[in-house]
Amino acid sequence: MRVAVYPGSFDPVTNGHIDILEKTSKIFDRIVIAVVHNVTKNALFSLDERVELIRESTKHLNNIEVECFSGLLTDYIREKKACAIIRGLRTMTDFEYEMHMSMMNKRLMPEVDTIFIMSDSNYIFVSSSGVKEAAMLGGDVSTLVPAAVKKGLQEKLKQFKQK
Ligand code: COA
Repeated sequence: MRVAVYPGSFDPVTNGHIDILEKTSKIFDRIVIAVVHNVTKNALFSLDERVELIRESTKHLNNIEVECFSGLLTDYIREKKACAIIRGLRTMTDFEYEMHMSMMNKRLMPEVDTIFIMSDSNYIFVSSSGVKEAAMLGGDVSTLVPAAVKKGLQEKLKQFKQK
């Protein structure tokens, strides 16, 4: 069985991530989405909320699992008996960052490769931060995120307004 891990902060998952998952779910038998707490980022959604939003948004794909993880990615890859790491590429800026990360992971675990999938041109400009900022300022993000995420963002906005 070919298992791949798709790691990221997913705060929140966007249609750009779903595009990558739809493409890779046809290549691998099972994909484990690993939701990571990135200490350098200010999260809007808790880890549990992010996991739930991804589960809701990937119901149409039957070979996806979603979990939180902390620690070293390569340890997690070993635990999951995965053969690849999935990452999406939008622009040249992503490429440089991703190249360094994939080389570091390769040094730590030579038997595992990172598979890069080009983003659909509709989502080249989409990022979780961009979506959060637009939504929190009242912008319409319905073409950029799954329906469950749009609802989640609206609820966060309501909570902020009540404070
Ligand atoms: N569509 C939409 N957005 C995309 C995208 C796509 N196809 N591809 C990337 N992005 C965006 C994300 O939305 C995110 O946006 P944000 O910065 O506004 O939140 C950004 O690109 C990249 O973030 P993400 O994919 O969440 O990665 P990250 O840089 O936060 O974390 C990990 C990367 C989790 C893989 C890495 O930190 C890790 O492995 N951590 C574990 C510790 C470890 O092993 N470290 C050593 C690794 S070398």
